[in-house]
Amino acid sequence: MTPDPPPDLKPAGATLDDGMSPIDRDHPIVRFADVHKAFGDQVVLRGVSLDLRAGETTVVLGPSGAGKSVLLKHIVGLLRPDRGRVFFRGLRIDNLSERRLSEPRKHIGFLFQMSALFDSMNVGDNVGFPLAEHTDLSPEDRAGRVAEALRTVGLDGLQHKLPSELSGGQRKRVALARAIILKPDLILYDEPTTGLDPIRADGINELIIKLRRGLNVSGVVVTHDLLSARRVADRVVVLYDGQIVADGTFSEVERSRHPYVMRFLSGRYDPLLDERVAPVPGARENDD
Ligand SMILES: Nc1ncnc2c1ncn2[C@@H]1O[C@H](COP(=O)(O)OP(=O)(O)O)[C@@H](O)[C@H]1O
Ligand SMILES: [Mg+2]
Repeated sequence: MTPDPPPDLKPAGATLDDGMSPIDRDHPIVRFADVHKAFGDQVVLRGVSLDLRAGETTVVLGPSGAGKSVLLKHIVGLLRPDRGRVFFRGLRIDNLSERRLSEPRKHIGFLFQMSALFDSMNVGDNVGFPLAEHTDLSPEDRAGRVAEALRTVGLDGLQHKLPSELSGGQRKRVALARAIILKPDLILYDEPTTGLDPIRADGINELIIKLRRGLNVSGVVVTHDLLSARRVADRVVVLYDGQIVADGTFSEVERSRHPYVMRFLSGRYDPLLDERVAPVPGARENDD
């Protein structure tokens, strides 16, 4: 078994024999083409069209309940559109069978909103889980890769701890180590800083920047944390009322004249307008 090359030696633009386009500036890493999604009569996405550029961190901002997590889940086929198409590296994935989805999923790391670690497994086994599932690496090689991933997030040495013995910030880091263990091309971060104090939140922002700069991984960060967006975003898109209503750098979006975007960025509550978009009582905030 030849060990994988370190990620920075990954041949740029290599074409894999799996129907996916190369990773370069000429090919969007993700494409949403007119994606519509409703749950019953609740319309969540009403025609989202968006190309995500490789090598960038795109932040999706929007109020809670806007459909940010729903949008992310379409990228890995956890949800399928009612209408429209979703592509990952040129491969149409919205109509793939579960079995065929396993190939693109190997290239995508997902940091779930609630970390979603296995409580009964120690940190090492949690982080190594995707290797056990998707590779035939020996236990020794797996342990080496786990240590490398934990070093990246600053937690090497905690392999034998249980998730319940960790702080919230450490659990996020462990989940992030698991998300990068297969050396993905794209990492999806669902509210990576929510629930963390400002210092720990900034530690996660640092890691997002480090992964993007050092390993050249593309990212999609879903958040309503404006500080985090400002820190990590190459590009910001705002999802509101089922559509993308602003798109640009953080400072471009700050200059948007869209009434909702102006209000969201100023953080000012407007009882007349905001009560209309507040989540329905009893609606699920998290479904991870
Ligand atoms: N699997 C599901 N079944 C039914 N409704 C869902 C499901 N997933 C999300 N929703 C609803 O879709 C809306 C958008 O949810 P979500 O994407 O989680 O919002 P957020 O922008 O806060 O991440 C919410 O009203 C939520 O209740
Ligand atoms: Mg969400």
